[in-house]
Amino acid sequence: MTIKESVISELSCSDKYISGEALAEKLGVSRNTIWKAVKSLREEGFDIDASSNRGYRILEMPYIITEAGIRKFLPQSDNRRLYILESTDSTNNYAKDLARNGESGGTVVISDTQTAGKGRMGRSFCSPPKSSIYMSLILRPKMDIESSQLITSCVAAATASAIDKICGTDTQIKWVNDLFLNGKKICGILTEASVSFESGTLDFAVVGIGINVRSVLNVFPDELLKTATSIQDETKILFDRSEIIAEVITSVEKYLNELPDRKFLEEYKKRSLIMGKRVIVTKAGEEREALAVGISENAGLEVIYDDGQKEVLNSGEARILPT
Ligand code: BTN
Repeated sequence: MTIKESVISELSCSDKYISGEALAEKLGVSRNTIWKAVKSLREEGFDIDASSNRGYRILEMPYIITEAGIRKFLPQSDNRRLYILESTDSTNNYAKDLARNGESGGTVVISDTQTAGKGRMGRSFCSPPKSSIYMSLILRPKMDIESSQLITSCVAAATASAIDKICGTDTQIKWVNDLFLNGKKICGILTEASVSFESGTLDFAVVGIGINVRSVLNVFPDELLKTATSIQDETKILFDRSEIIAEVITSVEKYLNELPDRKFLEEYKKRSLIMGKRVIVTKAGEEREALAVGISENAGLEVIYDDGQKEVLNSGEARILPT
């Protein structure tokens, strides 16, 4: 990271003033270097308040996603369409409308905020502006319905790998589609598909990915903070959303091309947070305790209930019980 990036990272982690001296000591540079970095950041549009006895505080960051910003990190040959929105109800809804009107596979819809972000099981997905990634990819893979059930787990492995590559993290997967960092959720994935009943194949799928990038500490409600976190809160670094988006796009494409060989399953298992843990399985509105023992060849969760009954779950939900 450059000194400027480190200064942004430090200041954006706190809503209090940080003295020039403290910043200089933390980053191992002189106070004059910090001042020059702040001056240059202000010229770039960062609204940084400087007070002679309290230090520096970021008031407003030009933390925006642009098409050029994303393309900078994509291969030059990549000519997919990118829709960059300031706000929409849900990028999945937007992408589904596009797909129904013939939009090609590969297109990605990204929004800075969502007014009705959707999670699994009819839940909502908290989508504040200027902080996270809300993106939906349109897929038109030539595959039967059975293989298409692997799309979500394949995208989970691809997204975890992309986040780790850019952020140097160690992301885990909680069956089936949640990504966790240090025991808390940083990313959720929601796949919605349109199936052709005549041919028994997938017409299109929309995979929506939500990644908490910037600190959620003063943003998410307290209840949500018990289970959710962000990349910045865990690493203390504010990463460029555009770079993560580009890496996720590239990684998802690579992993989905390899989906028929189920190559991603090994990585999915290695990253599994749930294996060997006691869980509460929710299925058709009923809850049962079980032990999670494995991941099947179809990315189902293998569990053993307390009465000894075994089951492979291909839908539903499993909540890890605290130890
Ligand atoms: C979950 O955690 O249950 C899944 C969350 C999926 C959130 C993403 S954000 C982009 C896309 N648009 C949505 O409305 N949802 C997905």
